[in-house]
Amino acid sequence: MNHVRCILLCLILLAACSPEVDNTKQDDSRGDDEVIFSDDGYEVYKENSCISCHGDRLQGASGPPLLDIDLTADEIETIIVNGVGFMPPQKLDDEDRTALVEWLSER
Ligand code: HEC
Repeated sequence: MNHVRCILLCLILLAACSPEVDNTKQDDSRGDDEVIFSDDGYEVYKENSCISCHGDRLQGASGPPLLDIDLTADEIETIIVNGVGFMPPQKLDDEDRTALVEWLSER
């Protein structure tokens, strides 16, 4: 009886431990970096003039950095369409704009 309990306990512990190992692997954001900058949204960002004012890694240049911006997808879209402050409105076709907004709001 005791042996069975011990084996059960070990199995439970093993099961509880293994997902943790997987999580630490997923948290390694270095791998993500490549994915982020090979995304369709980044292509749009690069091919339109965003990159010249906001930097090749969204770090900012003459425009502010676009990393961790506190804006919803709708707000970002409005900014692209209407411009904001010193940023002129950007003309993109709908498909490109959707990809770009989606990509940016995930940064
Ligand atoms: C001519 C330079 C220029 C270009 C081109 C440009 N921006 Fe901007 N952008 C700016 C400036 C300057 C601001 C800050 C405006 C202000 O607040 O006065 C800004 C602000 C923003 C903001 C708001 C940031 C915040 O934290 O509130 C977003 C989002 C943004 N730009 C996205 C884009 C995207 C996407 C593109 C390309 C489609 C783009 N910008 C092209 C200069 C530019």
